[in-house]
Amino acid sequence: MNWNEIRKKARENMKGYCRACKRCDGIACAGEIPGMGGTGTGRSFIANIEAIDRWRLELKTLHDIQKPDITSEIFGYKINMPVIAAPMTGLKGNAGGFLTEREYALMAAEACKNIGTIYMSGDANDPDMYPVGLDAILKTGVIGIPFSKPRTVKEIIEKANLAKKAGAMAFGIDVDGAGLIMMIRSGQFVGPKSKKEIKEIVDNIDLSLVLKGIMTVEEAEIAADAGAKAIVVSNHGGRVLDFTMGTADVLPDIVKAVGDKILVLVDGGIRSGVDVLKMLSLGAKAVLIGRPLMVAAHGGGREAIEFYLKKVADELYQAMILTGCKDLSSTPKVYRAN
Ligand SMILES: Cc1cc2nc3c(=O)[nH]c(=O)nc-3n(C[C@H](O)[C@H](O)[C@H](O)COP(=O)(O)O)c2cc1C
Repeated sequence: MNWNEIRKKARENMKGYCRACKRCDGIACAGEIPGMGGTGTGRSFIANIEAIDRWRLELKTLHDIQKPDITSEIFGYKINMPVIAAPMTGLKGNAGGFLTEREYALMAAEACKNIGTIYMSGDANDPDMYPVGLDAILKTGVIGIPFSKPRTVKEIIEKANLAKKAGAMAFGIDVDGAGLIMMIRSGQFVGPKSKKEIKEIVDNIDLSLVLKGIMTVEEAEIAADAGAKAIVVSNHGGRVLDFTMGTADVLPDIVKAVGDKILVLVDGGIRSGVDVLKMLSLGAKAVLIGRPLMVAAHGGGREAIEFYLKKVADELYQAMILTGCKDLSSTPKVYRAN
């Protein structure tokens, strides 16, 4: 199994919905939603890639770090690498239907369980999608975090209760799904949440709350003040609003403002172990990866997802040796190139 073969197979199986490019950068698929692209001009997806690319590392080899430690701890759970599977739904509309929602959820959860990392599941306008993620968590025993769309407070609390029953370790809301027209058109409420509503959710659920889709210092502070335990700095892979900033551009200020109060995770355009190291150096405690895991699943199932995660782990390990970084609490300095 190698990554080029996996991509080739994925390209065939995704039937034009994804080109499984050498670098998944949002250019060829710009505007393709349904599909795997970024919304509108695709600039928000591309901005994620460009923002990561701007940061540069210092090469250092005169030190004694031979075996860096890439393990981490999230909410007291030890994980073998600081990379988490992002919530991904809509397999039929976005990826052509070669895999069902259930097949993807199960293979992603199993792969995360085998690698020793966290699996996140999602929610969408099809009411079957959220329970499919819960089933995968229950069945595999993976450390799981299900995400609800920003539905009504009552519906969110109900979903958190189901997550608890499925053995999830935390529960999330992708708050950036507030304007999803496909949900609104299908008669399902989604909308922005006030600080008061976030507090109400925190007070009525029995799991730590994660808010995904935070892109400003102001909203990171609201999340922390309202009692959320973690945020994901994310623009939903560029799928919800055209022309946002890239996540690596906004991450440092957010970490500076709330990093000592709340766990900060990040996603968007992270493709390699070097990208992971940069995001950790900018202050994130772990990262989420989305599209490449879908590509892997379509090119070789669970084994290919594991192959990709191991590849990223190896790249991270190597990058840590080459930057003199012994563990994830002592990440290297990064520099912004213009
Ligand atoms: C096809 C597709 C489906 C997605 N479904 C969800 C979802 O159900 N819930 C959610 O919170 N995010 C969803 N996302 C966003 C991802 O969780 C993640 O934020 C984003 O893909 C990360 O960027 P990357 O794909 O460049 O790694 C989806 C993204 C894609 C591309």
